[in-house]
Amino acid sequence: FSGCRNVIGMEEIGFLETSEAVVADSDLLKKKLDAMRFSGPQKLQVIADFDATLTRYWIDGRRGQTSHGLLKQGNPDYDTKRDELYKYYHPLEYSPTISIEEKTKLMEEWWGKSHSLLIEGGLTFDAIKQSVATASIAFRQGVVELFELLEERDVPVLIFSAGLADIIEEVLRQKLHRSFKNIRIVSNRMVFDDNGCLVSFKGKTIHSLNKNEHALDMAAPLHDQLGDVDGAIDDSASVRKRTNVLLLGDHIGDLGMSDGLNYDTRISVGFLNDNIENSLDSYRNAFDIVYLNDASMLGVVKLVHQLFP
Ligand code: TMP
Repeated sequence: FSGCRNVIGMEEIGFLETSEAVVADSDLLKKKLDAMRFSGPQKLQVIADFDATLTRYWIDGRRGQTSHGLLKQGNPDYDTKRDELYKYYHPLEYSPTISIEEKTKLMEEWWGKSHSLLIEGGLTFDAIKQSVATASIAFRQGVVELFELLEERDVPVLIFSAGLADIIEEVLRQKLHRSFKNIRIVSNRMVFDDNGCLVSFKGKTIHSLNKNEHALDMAAPLHDQLGDVDGAIDDSASVRKRTNVLLLGDHIGDLGMSDGLNYDTRISVGFLNDNIENSLDSYRNAFDIVYLNDASMLGVVKLVHQLFP
């Protein structure tokens, strides 16, 4: 992709030295960077979407799978039923003609039916492990470096997804080969019985249009979730005191992930993976930085390095 790009001073802002970065308001971005640098890493938190933000959009020329999409229940009838729901509801999710109220109802319906099918179809934790092992899912280049850097700087990372927490955790376990004490996941969490069968979901359903509601209330430390991470991390009260946010998303709606926070400074990074010609204008106006074409996470790594060397 080329054209309609406004990349700011390379020498000052090395993380944009890739031709894949677009910034609409470079003065504003510089001000935000200065403010974040001044407040220090102890004021920063990262809030990231999972699917197609931390993970790649394309893998070997085909769409990478999402936390929902990769799941094989070990019960083909139920996989088919969930796929039928996807074919019906996914176009509605992106329809430009349905009102937000109507769409919210439809999304509640979709998530409700899909979660019920997972329970009815007898999903087991073993099926999750198997599904992840054979899934076409991969983190963007630079995600591990980003997590390591943020861990070194004691900056918490909140992964916020309308997908499935247990699957996201399994992807982290299998693909990163190590755990991070600074990562917590806010997503739909399953409850299994003693036989490892799914019996219910915890709390309020998070779907793609209510990600902003109750966001931070649901955060639980990762060591509670994985059980194998030592060392304490911030509880959600102290995360609220981190009033600078680096937000990573691939949809404009992801900007709502920080709505639960009364932030001072937010730098938003948008990954525009597809349909660039039609979406670039709205993305460059919504996000401080837009990375195009399923870009790597290395620009964000450099940004954090530059903020807190
Ligand atoms: P997210 O980007 O906020 O994590 O959104 C989750 C995506 O999951 C959303 O685009 C719709 C999709 N989805 C499925 O693929 N299958 C399902 O059964 C459900 C409920 C959602």
